[in-house]
Formats: sequence, C-alpha cells, structure tokens
Amino acid sequence: MQTIGRPLVIAHRGASGYLPEHTLVAKALAFGQGADYLEQDVVATRDDQLIVFHDLTLEQTTDVARHFPGRQRADGHYYCRDFNLAELRRLGVGPRLDPQGGERHPGRFPGTGGRFGIPTLAEEIRFIQGLVRSSGRMVGIYPEVKDPAWHHDEGIDLGMNLLDTLEACQQQGPRLPVFLQCFDAGELQRLRPHCDPGLPFVQLLDSAGGRPSVARLGEIASYAQAIGPSLKLLLHPAGDGQAAGSLVADAHRAGLAVHPYTFRRDELPAGVESFEALLETCLVAWGADGLFTDFPDLARSFIDQRLGG
Ligand code: G3P
Ligand code: CA
Repeated sequence: MQTIGRPLVIAHRGASGYLPEHTLVAKALAFGQGADYLEQDVVATRDDQLIVFHDLTLEQTTDVARHFPGRQRADGHYYCRDFNLAELRRLGVGPRLDPQGGERHPGRFPGTGGRFGIPTLAEEIRFIQGLVRSSGRMVGIYPEVKDPAWHHDEGIDLGMNLLDTLEACQQQGPRLPVFLQCFDAGELQRLRPHCDPGLPFVQLLDSAGGRPSVARLGEIASYAQAIGPSLKLLLHPAGDGQAAGSLVADAHRAGLAVHPYTFRRDELPAGVESFEALLETCLVAWGADGLFTDFPDLARSFIDQRLGG
C-alpha cells in the first residue's frame, strides 16, 4: 500500500510542538496547519472509558499528584486505569516532564499558559468531525491501541473497545479516513477479522526490536498495510551491510507503506543538521509515505514546496 502522491503529514499527539500533547486545542491547531491525519494514543480508565492519552501513567503530563496525593501504586506511579473519568476531568494537562521534573522540550508551550483537559476518544472524534464539517476539509484519524496486553491483564479488551467506539462515532458521520496502529503484532492479527478489510493497519516498530528482516516484512504484509518504524531504524543501519534508509525500499517491495516516527524540530537525531534536511532525506531521497511529527506546519510547508502542493 504505497501512498500515491505526497507523503502524509500525521500530527503526532496533535501539534504537540506548540500546545500540550493530546489536548483538543493541539488537534485543532494541527488541523489548521494542514495535517492529513491526527493521532490518538488510547488508554482505558477504571470505569472502562477510553481516553486519548499517551502514557499508562499520569504524572508526566498532568497535575495528578496535586489532586490525588496517595493514589499512586507501590511503584510510585499514578495509573490512568486507577482513576475513573470523573476524577480525570479534574486534571490539567501541561508540558511533558522528564523524570527529574524538568520540561522534556524546553521552549515549548509552558505550564502556565492555560487549562487543558484529557478528552475521551469519542469526544475527540466528534470534535474532529465538527472541524471537518465547519471547514469543509477532510482529515483522518490515526488511533493507537496502547499496551493491549497490559490492558488485558487489567481486565479490559482495549482493542475491541476501541473498534466499537470508532464504529459508533463513524456512524454519526462524517466518516473519517482511519489508520489503526499498534506495536503489538499479536493484537493487530487478533483484531484483523473484526475489522472492515478496508481499514488499514500499521505495525509499529521500535528500535529495540531491530531492523525487520525481509521475511518479517512479508509476515507483516499479511495483516497490515504499513509499518511505523522508529526513525532510528531508518537512519542507523543494523551493521549488517544494509544502507541507511533501505528499510523503506524493502517495505515497499513487501507492499507496505512506511510512516516513520517521530520528526521533531527540537529533538533532531544525532548528526542531522536541520529539520528540513531530515525531511529531505526521509521523504525525498528514501521515499517514506508519511511521517509522524510534532510540527505539522513545517512538514506541510516542506511537502507542498518540495513535492508539489
Ligand atoms: O505511534 C507512532 C508513535 O507515536 C509511536 O510512538 O510512543 O509516541 O506513541 P509513541
Ligand atoms: Ca503513538
């Protein structure tokens, strides 16, 4: 499933380079900046509500410790799964913090600039459908089933719940283009028979798993239409004689599109001189079919100017 035409701009957690990640304002900004798809990481609450939130735990992007002292588990973390939706409504979402409590990306939107909450998946889809209706411009959604095995152990089938929510929202219309993504290959294979065959699946690949072999890409192509590899997998050859970027060509030969993550102006890979140089290499030289980026405006501008508007 190679993309015909220009690479897709996938807003990674929204326009998260400019506003707190996975807030509705970050999605609205990404939409206004011309993203083709808006990403949703999806996790579950104690009362089995699906929320758009990246982590299983709350403390890296919210003020949970201030509102709910003592509600952490023995490991010191505050889990989304331990709070019901009404409780999570009280939290404010702010800049992502590092383990030392500093801002992960200094210079991004500050913690003092406004009050933002955690949306449910259904709320966010309805919000995006509202933007499509009011603007007349279509945009896709790109939900990720986060840690399905962990959720299963917690007593919820996150993947099936996500599919049910998606379909219920889509029936309300307007129907949005969708990619469904997950790191867990077994989960994607399990969900495949429960989906419209036309729903494209994306097998996410992290750098710890190493560069997938040609045989592995063939297996992935039996249930997915694209891979979402870490940028490291593209940029750093595995030391097995493979050229940097050759993963794109190998995936294309297997019939898979390639949507690497994550392109950040303020967190460039080692040895890359600029954001534009990174885009030039991945999109133009190697032919990636899309990209997850915190800066949809910069990707949109580059693609329109370099690859035709
Ligand atoms: O889903 C693509 C990319 O977002 C994967 O990384 O950790 O940001 O979900 P993560
Ligand atoms: Ca994600």
